[in-house]
Amino acid sequence: MSVHIKATGKYIPNGVLTNKDFEQIVETSDEWIVTRTGIKKRHKVVEETTVDMAYYAAMDAINKGSIKKEDIDLIIVATITGEQKTPSIANAVQMRLGLETAMSFDINAACTGFIYALEVASALLSTFAYNRALVIGSETLTKIVDYTDRNTCILFGDGAGAAIVERSKDASHFFSQAKPDYNDYLTVKKYIHMDGKRVYIFAVDAMATSIEKVLEKANLTIDDIDAIIPHQANERIVQAVSKNMNIPYERFEMNIAEYGNTSAASIPITLAEYKEKHPDKKRVLLVGFGGGFTYGAAIVNV
Ligand code: UT7
Repeated sequence: MSVHIKATGKYIPNGVLTNKDFEQIVETSDEWIVTRTGIKKRHKVVEETTVDMAYYAAMDAINKGSIKKEDIDLIIVATITGEQKTPSIANAVQMRLGLETAMSFDINAACTGFIYALEVASALLSTFAYNRALVIGSETLTKIVDYTDRNTCILFGDGAGAAIVERSKDASHFFSQAKPDYNDYLTVKKYIHMDGKRVYIFAVDAMATSIEKVLEKANLTIDDIDAIIPHQANERIVQAVSKNMNIPYERFEMNIAEYGNTSAASIPITLAEYKEKHPDKKRVLLVGFGGGFTYGAAIVNV
């Protein structure tokens, strides 16, 4: 399967919740949040919906890549915070883009959603039935946070990231998996409920496995990769992966201090920011984990 990412985009809402704000909401402190998670603030929607943010991030990618939007024939949105069951966020984005024909649908693989969506897009593009995919992660997690639970409410933020994906001569590689969360350690029924410690242990292992497996599939080593774009859930999780795998921490792109955990949006937002800093072609490794439990990685040129 060979695809590359032609352009990236993001949308960050203007509302902000700082750690100091949380000191007024639950019994916590800026010091605890920063040292345990690396988060300093997170962004929060003002009026925007998950659809709005998905569309704005898509337009950012379309403009940055000078893409003719009429050429997009596949739209996949990864999200766990769609406002309605149907039509999907992707259908709504298609409508906002004014595209009369395209295949468009959402997927739910929690925080691994963008990686799953990228692999699905890549598989569909490789059939030659579609030519240009728009893959988006968009989340309004601040609407499903339990603001009485200090274990979880300080972690999550809102935002969206998008990528334009095309067939390419450059090789791309994917590894996507799920294993059952028998004990409901990470669920959203109405609000996010999580046993952070259990998820933490799973996450460190799942990220390392995903990095190893995708490198193995690609027949590459970590030295062949320009940057690792990890899901931003907790700085300490990435530090543990870096230490356990003997990969310098500087090789991981981090922005959790600014955004907190934005679930399916975290990888594409980080990717878009990386691309802004490095406009020349790079080979990146995306890696994530989340509720399900899902986990996975991708190696792709951007
Ligand atoms: O995208 C995937 C979703 N989520 C994740 O990846 C999260 C994975 N887990 C984590 O990131 C971490 O487990 C947390 C940040 C959630 C928690 O960090 P921890 O170092 O595992 O803390 P802990 O759960 O062991 O709690 C340590 C103490 C507890 O107090 P006691 O029982 O030792 O007295 C907690 O009650 O810290 C307390 N605590 C807090 N204190 C101040 C928990 N949350 C807070 C808080 N402020 N916000």
